[in-house]
Amino acid sequence: MHWTKGIISGSLALALATALPVARAQSAASQAASSEQNWWRNAVIYEVYPRSFQDSNGDGIGDLNGITDRLDYLKELGVDAIWLTPIYPSPQVDFGYDISDYENIDPQYGTLADFNRLTAEADKRHIRIIMDMVMNHTSDKHPWFIQSRSSKDNPYRDWYMWHDGKGETATSPGAPPNNWESAFGGSAWQWDPTTRQYYYHKFYIQQPDLNWNNPKVHEAFRNIINFWLQRGVGGFRFDAITTLFEDPQMRDEDPVLDKNGKPVMLFGKVELKDDRTDNLPQVHDVMQEMRATADKFDSDKFPGARVFIGETYLPNIGELAKQYGAPDKPEFQLPMDTQIGFINKLDVATFRSRINDAETKLNGNTPLLVFDNHDNPRLDARYGDGVHNTDIERVISTILFASRGASLSYYGDEIGMKTTPPTRKEDVKDPVGITGWPRFKGRDGERTPMQWDAAANAGFTSPTATPWLPVPPTYTTVNVKAEQSEQDSLLTWYKALIQLKKTNPAFAHGENVMLDTDNTKVLSWMRQTAGAPTVVVSVNFTADPQSVNLTVPGSGSGVKTLLKTPGAQDPASLNAIQLGPFGVYIGEVQ
Ligand code: NOJ
Ligand code: CA
Repeated sequence: MHWTKGIISGSLALALATALPVARAQSAASQAASSEQNWWRNAVIYEVYPRSFQDSNGDGIGDLNGITDRLDYLKELGVDAIWLTPIYPSPQVDFGYDISDYENIDPQYGTLADFNRLTAEADKRHIRIIMDMVMNHTSDKHPWFIQSRSSKDNPYRDWYMWHDGKGETATSPGAPPNNWESAFGGSAWQWDPTTRQYYYHKFYIQQPDLNWNNPKVHEAFRNIINFWLQRGVGGFRFDAITTLFEDPQMRDEDPVLDKNGKPVMLFGKVELKDDRTDNLPQVHDVMQEMRATADKFDSDKFPGARVFIGETYLPNIGELAKQYGAPDKPEFQLPMDTQIGFINKLDVATFRSRINDAETKLNGNTPLLVFDNHDNPRLDARYGDGVHNTDIERVISTILFASRGASLSYYGDEIGMKTTPPTRKEDVKDPVGITGWPRFKGRDGERTPMQWDAAANAGFTSPTATPWLPVPPTYTTVNVKAEQSEQDSLLTWYKALIQLKKTNPAFAHGENVMLDTDNTKVLSWMRQTAGAPTVVVSVNFTADPQSVNLTVPGSGSGVKTLLKTPGAQDPASLNAIQLGPFGVYIGEVQ
């Protein structure tokens, strides 16, 4: 099984214990157990959008065998785990986030046998597979919903959220039960003529919300989690997890008010808060239950080794801290810290304070840094200045990999893939890009095929196939093959950072302390752990050269370069670190 790789399992541990002097044997076994249990603390996790990663059969759609073919690349990059966005059978309205069967593989992506081969091959390379777990909603084509909508007394009726309309008459459905809105626009209530009631959908109409007040729904997901644990997955990423529950009293959402107390208008309509439909406290009980399910599965081995990652867009660090649960009631090991990665502006003071928050206000838990995913324009569009984009991507990746915690990276960011939205409405694939056109072009722009080489279709699919989304024109120069052989490429930079994160003790586990904290142009910090040299990092957030003077308490000013951006000089001391535009310097204090 995938997850048992490289560990000292029960009988082998016993054999070792009798063969070695007792103290050494115990410490070897407990060290192995501890690293197996805590692998995620310093993990590099790589998000694969399977549709766009590698096509193996020439239909223009990426698939599992394609991912298996590219495992060596991920291994070389230094990836510990791959999060696959949903690969289950699905009508693909929301490209897999509308699931019609939780215990199988969509034929577009392959079979369960292909999945087993993927996990087995990943296991050989010490890479874990993380599944996307969508518990808020199913597809409207899932058998549970087909049953549920068929009649009011169907046993599955109460698996979803059904309500009467307001002022219904024999000829009209009446108004929706309240003002709740779908994240994709419009009312979150859809009238269903068969039973003359509305159902609730936080996302697309084809994604009805499950009713988490029904114990049968809990039981179904405990079983699904066990199904994938048995298949050896390394953990789960829980989709839209904060949206599981809604206000039982069904009260309207209030408008968002500006500082003068006036409702904020967005796209010509009143912007609503979402505190009646998001982040309700009952979610914690569900996560404790699911975590207990996973820990029980492994209770004889390494409880806590299967990682729970949360899609946790939250308003502040205090809410993020709650997602870890308590030691006796754990929830996520790695809820995503979206406070840092989605600042979307290179502002030194904001980065400094948010990274400090992650260090000091998460009760010693491990932050999961993330700057990008399949729902947001890529880094170039959110942080770039159009002139120094690659340098800025070096800045971002340095924060991602050189801060304490686990790092989540989105496919293609390591080569500097750019957001490439469709130029014509008729080419849009993401439904929200069609309804939002031309103001919002949807999410196709950040989901384009991986750029492997300079051949036609960038090595993503056969040169004669039609990829499901067009390959961006940048592929002739922005591609893996070209960057593998360039010493100064972004890909080479990523590999060097990941290597430091894995091999340098201070980068692996050292605490994160901000330095030069009044500087508004350069973000500097040190990483420190007992018994290893302190390391310092300086990152220039501006397009002008900068010079920094760092003081490391209790140390002299000698420094040895570990990594620096192309063209930078080795500094004579910590007092005079020169940085080019958006330059980065990483050194070991002597
Ligand atoms: C978050 C996913 O990342 C996004 O792609 C999806 O549309 C929604 N959740 C609904 O599942
Ligand atoms: Ca395919």
